[in-house]
Amino acid sequence: MIDQLTKLRIIPVVAIESSLDAEPLADALCEGGLPVAEITLRTDAGIGAIAALSRRQDFLVGAGTVHSVEQAKRVADAGAKFIVSPGFNPKTVQWCLDHQMPIFPGTSSPTDLEMALEFGLSVVKFFPAEQIGGVKMVKALASPYGDLRFIPTGGIHAGNLSDYLNLPSVIACGGSWMVKSNWLTEGRFEEIKRMTAEAVAL
Ligand code: 3PG
Repeated sequence: MIDQLTKLRIIPVVAIESSLDAEPLADALCEGGLPVAEITLRTDAGIGAIAALSRRQDFLVGAGTVHSVEQAKRVADAGAKFIVSPGFNPKTVQWCLDHQMPIFPGTSSPTDLEMALEFGLSVVKFFPAEQIGGVKMVKALASPYGDLRFIPTGGIHAGNLSDYLNLPSVIACGGSWMVKSNWLTEGRFEEIKRMTAEAVAL
């Protein structure tokens, strides 16, 4: 999973209001050049969307905003291929490790990174990236924790994406900028495709 995400470089983070939008969303992302999404559990439709997208061979679907073991079980049952969480929940991380589920827990401090190392993780989410110091903070953390790699997420957009991706410690970035919250309900799939292609070009 780490290899796949390292090749993709960008993980669109999506809050979906209707699971019926899942297929056209995946089509737009694929056409834009990014066959991957983190579907968050912030909306009730998230689980249904994960289930629908997990059946596609041409698409990599992960689950985001997973706060608990119970949610990790639900998204695993729905077919999520990886799990992302905003913070570091040791119980959720342990459950994922026990069940061969790739997990990228959120970290924001040296203490979090030491927990990640303790659990044997090599890649973590760095969240919320821009708000907690951005590129400078990633650089500062990468120095003493050279074995760890990061997926910065939070406040990333076309204007600062390259600054993060140019860091050797960053395997990929997450963000919602190419699937804005109202775009799905408004059917703006062409816009999603365009923003995705623009991000891929960067
Ligand atoms: C997340 O859940 O990872 C973030 O909400 C994504 O952050 P962004 O909306 O600032 O891109």
